[in-house]
Amino acid sequence: MAKQKPSNASFNVEKIRADFPILKRRFGKNKLAYLDNAASAQKPQAVIDALADFYANHYSNVHRSVSTLAMEATDAFESARETVAQHVGAQTEEIVFTRNTSESINLVAYAWGNANVKAGDAIVITEMDHHSNLVPWQQLALLKKAELHYIPVEDAGEQNGQLDADFEFPENTKLFAFPHVSNVLGTVNDIKGWSQKAKFEAPGTTVVVDGAAGAPHFQLDLPASGADFYAFSGHKMCGPMGSGVLWGKKEILQEMPPFLFGGSMISKVEKEKTTWADLPAKFEAGTPNAADAVGLAAAINYLNKIGLKKIHDHEIKLADYACEELAKINGVTLYGPNGNASYATGKNGKDHVAKKPNVEKAQNRVGIVAFNLDGVHAHDLGSILDQDAIAIRSGHHCAQALMERLNVAATARASFYLYNTQEEVDRLVQGVKRVKKIFS
Ligand SMILES: Cc1ncc(COP(=O)(O)O)c(C=O)c1O
Repeated sequence: MAKQKPSNASFNVEKIRADFPILKRRFGKNKLAYLDNAASAQKPQAVIDALADFYANHYSNVHRSVSTLAMEATDAFESARETVAQHVGAQTEEIVFTRNTSESINLVAYAWGNANVKAGDAIVITEMDHHSNLVPWQQLALLKKAELHYIPVEDAGEQNGQLDADFEFPENTKLFAFPHVSNVLGTVNDIKGWSQKAKFEAPGTTVVVDGAAGAPHFQLDLPASGADFYAFSGHKMCGPMGSGVLWGKKEILQEMPPFLFGGSMISKVEKEKTTWADLPAKFEAGTPNAADAVGLAAAINYLNKIGLKKIHDHEIKLADYACEELAKINGVTLYGPNGNASYATGKNGKDHVAKKPNVEKAQNRVGIVAFNLDGVHAHDLGSILDQDAIAIRSGHHCAQALMERLNVAATARASFYLYNTQEEVDRLVQGVKRVKKIFS
C-alpha cells in the first residue's frame, strides 16, 4: 500500500506568525528569520497578555494571605499547575514548579540522589546529554564514589545519531538519565523502550528523562511513559523564561527528602525539628514564580489549540527540506538522523548520501538540524548569517561530550518551530552558500 503523505492542511503558518509580535521585527532591511528555537522559543501575544494580566490585575504573593487579591493570585497559580498536570496526564501534586530543566534535574540529583545513591552504584547517562543532564550526575557520582557509564551514540548508517541499542545496563545501575530528544542531533529517544530495558536489565533502576527538547514537540502521557521523573522548561515551548517543571511519580516524591529549605515547604517548625508540607509544596521553598507559571499555562493552551502533532509535522517537513538543500552544498556535513538521508557523524561527513524521504524515520526526529561547513568555524557561519537577520546557534550547544563524540569543536544549528517557513529555510541555504563563497 502506498504511504500517505502527512497532511497538515489546517496548519496556517501565516496566521500563527501573526500571533508573535517579535516576528514583525526587521534588522536593517531584513525580516527576522528566527531559527534558534531549540535555545528558546518566541512568545505569542496570548502568553504576553497572560503575564501582563497577572501583574496588572491579580498580583499578590501566593499561599499566604487571605485577601481576595491574594486568593486570586493563588488560584491562578494553582490552576496553572492543573493545566500543566492535565497536559502531561499527571496528578496535580506530581507537578513541581521550578525555574527550568536544569533546576528540575538538580532537584532530583540532590534530593533523590543524595538519599539513594551510594558508593559502588552505577549511574548511566548518554553521550548525547546536555550538560544539564550530565554535570549533576557526574558530580553526584564523584561525591558518592559511584560509577558513571555513558551509552554511546551510533555513527554513520541506519543508526546514525541514535543511542546504541546494544548497550547493556550494569546490574548495579541505580539511576538512568537520558534526553527525550537530543538538542543537537534532533534524535527522539523512545522513553518507554529505554526505561523498560533499564528496569529489566537492572531491576530497581530509577529513570530520569530530560524533556527540555522533547516537551515542546510531543503530546505526553508521563505516568504511562515508563519514566520516574521528567523535567522540562517553559521557555522552550513559548512560555516565559523562569518557568520550569519537574514531574515525578507521587510515591517517589513522597519518599524523597526536600531539596531547598525555607518558607512554604514546611508543615510545622519547632526549634529542634521541622516536618514537611504535602506535595508539591515540599519542593517549592520560598515565593514561587507564580506569574511565569500562569504564562506557561497560557503557552500550553496556545500550543494545544494548534495541536502538537501538527506542529511536529510542520517542523520536520522544514527540517527534511533543510537537510535536502544543505546536503547539496559541497562541504556541508549534517549530524544526526534524517528523515530524508543518512549522513556520517564524526570524521568529516564526506560520505553523506541523499536518499528518498522516509516519513517513518522523519517522525523520529524534531526540527533540529546541526551542520558544519568545511573550513569555516560555526561561529563565523552564525555571524555572517546574522548579517542577513538569520538567527541560528553555533557552538557546542552545552553538549561537549557529544562534540567529542562527533569529533568537532562546534556545529551550527538551525532549529524550527511552529512559525518558521520554507522561505526562511531558503534564506538559510542561500546564506550558507554566501558564507562558502566568502571563505573560498
Ligand atoms: C536537551 C536539553 N536539556 C536541558 C537544557 C537546559 O534547559 P534550561 O536552560 O532551560 O535549564 C536544554 C537547553 O538548551 C536542552 O536543550
